[in-house]
This record gives sequence, structure tokens and C-alpha cells, in this order.
Amino acid sequence: MRGLPWPAKVYLVVVIGAAAALVGHSLVTGALFRSGEYGTLLVLALLFLVCESMPTLLNVEQFAVSVSFSAALAAVVLVGPDGAALVGLTAVLSVRPGLPLVKRLFNGAQFAICGYVSGMAYLFFGGVPKVPMVNDFEALIGPYAAAAALFVPLNIVLTLTMVWLATQVRAEELPVSGMTQFLLSYFGYATFGLLVAGLWATVQSISAVLVLLPLFVARWAFGQYHAQQRSYDATIAALCQAVETKDYYTRGHCTRVSLASTMIAQEIGMGVERLRAIRYAGMLHDVGKLGVPTKVLQKDGPLTEEEFAAIQLHPMRGLEIVRGIDFLDEAFAGIMHHHERHDGRGYPMGLAGDEIPEFARVIAVADAFDSMTSDRSYRGARPVEVAVAELRKGAGTQFDPVMVAAFVKALERAPWQPPRTVSPPPADATETTTKDHDDPTMPIEVVGGP
Ligand SMILES: [Fe+2]
Repeated sequence: MRGLPWPAKVYLVVVIGAAAALVGHSLVTGALFRSGEYGTLLVLALLFLVCESMPTLLNVEQFAVSVSFSAALAAVVLVGPDGAALVGLTAVLSVRPGLPLVKRLFNGAQFAICGYVSGMAYLFFGGVPKVPMVNDFEALIGPYAAAAALFVPLNIVLTLTMVWLATQVRAEELPVSGMTQFLLSYFGYATFGLLVAGLWATVQSISAVLVLLPLFVARWAFGQYHAQQRSYDATIAALCQAVETKDYYTRGHCTRVSLASTMIAQEIGMGVERLRAIRYAGMLHDVGKLGVPTKVLQKDGPLTEEEFAAIQLHPMRGLEIVRGIDFLDEAFAGIMHHHERHDGRGYPMGLAGDEIPEFARVIAVADAFDSMTSDRSYRGARPVEVAVAELRKGAGTQFDPVMVAAFVKALERAPWQPPRTVSPPPADATETTTKDHDDPTMPIEVVGGP
């Protein structure tokens, strides 16, 4: 709480105060106990608590989605607005180690408000809070839809407002598109809430288990998948960092090549799986540099034929290093052939045109572009327009013209953010290459070479 900006503190106090007033009012007026459904209330509160304690982290930072929406909406039907508010409030007690008290209080308060407001909407549209019988179902659908339509957007608005005030980002930087993406799944949870309420008359609290258990399993599997993706990303990032420590001036190069490769891949219509693979390939394209002696990479002046041969080996070395990582799939081809040239004069195998794997043709363009638009020890970064002109000049000889055209088109849509200027490295920790093997405007000189 201490680190929060004051508007966020005010908002927090207002939300928590409103929730406390709602629940306090229910307790004082006895509205909570009028229905006498203590058992139902207890089961729903427990169910909500269990669901809230096992959220599945999404790739939208700061947010977690859990099945608790279904329990909260079932509470609207079974125990009314006061009961739904109390059920929502139990989020304060969720078992999520490390979750700060402020976040707990905010979660509980906003769920209580959402439960109460949607419960009032349920009443307003003619819904009657009780365990519904088969005959009641038709009359229940409309009010329930109104309650669900309020609960979910209200939850998103309350949460995004908090994020906006707490992080002080501009409104347009809020992850609204990410939240919109999950709005549909929230409404899916609403359907499960209706099922729980509908089955209550027949099997009571077992209805929750019957309906939500399969959902839990699916969410768990989804969570495992995300955890796996995160560990893959961490592995790749660690390898990248290892490569970049060899050269002060190429820091961030892997990430930018990965980004530019993904832009080209999207432009030529690659599917989701291949996009992921090319993102990895872009990150790891130069991992083979780990197998090239640093003194060769950093040598000032022309290279001997042996030294140039050592550089030319880096695509193969890269493949050897990552061969055991099976999730890289097609990325192997990108790593192995990213220095092939369209005219067949590249390395390591001298492939030409369509013989060169598509991933490698994409990375070759992205790699050269980032090299030209970044600072190097021997020259400053070139402007994007100059780099694009170089790519166009090399289309059909060094680069696949299709990939160059795709990249130019992608750049028109999303302008490139060149890396910030690299200040001269500190004298003690400096290791810099004097020539960059990726830079098409400064070819490596080889003593006794062609
Ligand atoms: Fe390379």
C-alpha cells in the first residue's frame, strides 16, 4: 500500500469501503439470513474459495482467471445479492502464498461488489433467489443473463481501473485487448454457473463437483501448458544471454532478430505453431558463436582462412548445441542455414533459392537488418531507410526477394523501433567484435581469401 500512488490508494479505500458497507448492511438488516440457506451459502463460499485459490495465470500480466466466476454467479441465483456479495468476499482468504494483503482485500472487495450488483440486476429483471426447480428454469434465464452481463464487465472495469491507477500507465497502454480476448471465456464460466444452480435441486452441492471438476482439469492442463511455455522461453533467453555476453555491442540482437523474423513470418501467413518456432529460431540463430573462439570473433583486421572457417562453422555448432531441445522443431533449419545466400554463395552448405529452408530465408533478412540498424564498435547505427535500401539491393542475390518484400510491408504497418544508442563500453568489462559477420555492408576480410 505504501508504494501506491495516492489516486490508487483513494480508489482502493473506496472499493473496500463500498464492499464493507454492502456486507455490513446485509448483516445488520439480516438480509443475509432471511433465506435460511446457510448450508448453500457455506458450500458456495467454500467452492468460490477453492476456485479462487487455484487461478490459472494467463499470459496477460497482473491477471489471473479462475473458475470462481461460475461459483459467484451460481450464488446470485441460489442465495441472492447479499449472499453473492459474501461469497465474493471470501476471495480475501484465498490460499495464494505471497499475495499481498492489499491485493487480497481488493480482490475480495471487487468480487463482493460484482456479486451484489449482478444479484440486484437478477432481482430487477424478475429473478427470485432460491434453489430453482425444473419449472422455474425458463423464467430464470433472462435475469441470469442480465446478472452475468454485468458481473464480468464490472469485474474487468474495477480491475483495470486499479491497474491503471497503480501502475500509472497511459489508458491506451492498458492490456484491454488481452482482457477482451478473455471476455468470451468469462461468459463461458457464466454458463457453468447456471448449470451449477440448475442442478442444485437434484444433487445439491454435488452439482458443483459434477459441473466444475472437468472444468478444473481442463484449466489445470491449460495452466501446465503455460508453465511449460514459460520455462521454454526462460531456457531460450538464458542461451541468448550466454551468446550476447561475448560481445558488448550485440546485446539485444537475438531478441530483435526474433521480433523482425516474427514480423516477416506473420506477413507471409505462417500459422501459430510455426510463428512460435521462428521466434525461438530468431533468438537462437547465433547460439553457435558459443563454439567459436572469442579471440576470433573479436579479432581486429582481416581474418586468416582458418579463422574465417571457424566463423563459418557457427551455424553447425549452433545446431549441435541445441539439437537435444526437441521443442525447437523447424527452428533447427533456421539456425543451421541462416547464412545461406539466395544466389548460393553463402555457408555452410551453399544452398540457393528455394533449397534454403524458409525459416533461414526469413532470419537472414531479419539478422542483416538488425545488424545494420544497431550500433557497432566500428560504426554507428544506420537509419532504417538505409538498411531497407540495402536489403532491397541484396534481394535476389543475398536475400530472398519475397522475404525482403514481406519485411518492407510489415515495417510499413508497424514501424521499427531501433535499439537505443549504445554508449561506449566500460574499459574493464569490454569485449567487442571489430567486424560483425551479419553486417552485409561490411563484409569480413579474409587474408588470402577470394
Ligand atoms: Fe550468424
